[in-house]
Amino acid sequence: MGKKIFIISSSFRPHSNSRALCEAVADGAREAGNAVEIVNLSGKKISFCTGCYACQKLHHCVQNDDANEICRKICEADAVVFGTPVYYFGIAAQLKAVLDRCVQFWPEPAGKPYYLVATMADAPHFEYVIGSIKGFVECFDGATLAGTVLADGVYEQDAVRTTKFMKEAYELGKSI
Ligand SMILES: Cc1cc2nc3c(=O)[nH]c(=O)nc-3n(C[C@H](O)[C@H](O)[C@H](O)COP(=O)(O)O)c2cc1C
Repeated sequence: MGKKIFIISSSFRPHSNSRALCEAVADGAREAGNAVEIVNLSGKKISFCTGCYACQKLHHCVQNDDANEICRKICEADAVVFGTPVYYFGIAAQLKAVLDRCVQFWPEPAGKPYYLVATMADAPHFEYVIGSIKGFVECFDGATLAGTVLADGVYEQDAVRTTKFMKEAYELGKSI
């Protein structure tokens, strides 16, 4: 029986580099016999966490938007992949908004591997991106950042498709 793998692709850009890598991860993961779902945050309604903590009493968020289902799928998956463009050396704001909204399901996103796929234009400088994802993962018991594909030097749309990172992403998917 394969694993349930949930991939979140954050870029809003058509022909997105990070999405191309997410799709390669998905191909590898399916090849290995897993069930894969990819969600694109583009077009989704995702409000910011207001820190009201109503979720601590209600066990759900009082905001009614697409983040609730995305966060629930993070909880239900056996493994989760976060795909993000690098913006000012950090993760995309829309991905951070999803991570923050997961507080409604605290402490459920625990006990599973998480993976990071990120693309940036310049020379590799991924420490803040890794730090943001680790900041999330390390808040949940038994959750780990189990693997990364960090693609530097990709600026234009689809630029990543001719790089070694596509195979790296596929192999990461197979290994999940
Ligand atoms: C708002 C914004 C901020 C960016 N900041 C950086 C950056 O700090 N370093 C960098 O190398 N590239 C930066 N870039 C370029 C993107 O990271 C790069 O084009 C990436 O491949 C985009 O991924 P995507 O195609 O999946 O959206 C930035 C792009 C935008 C739009």
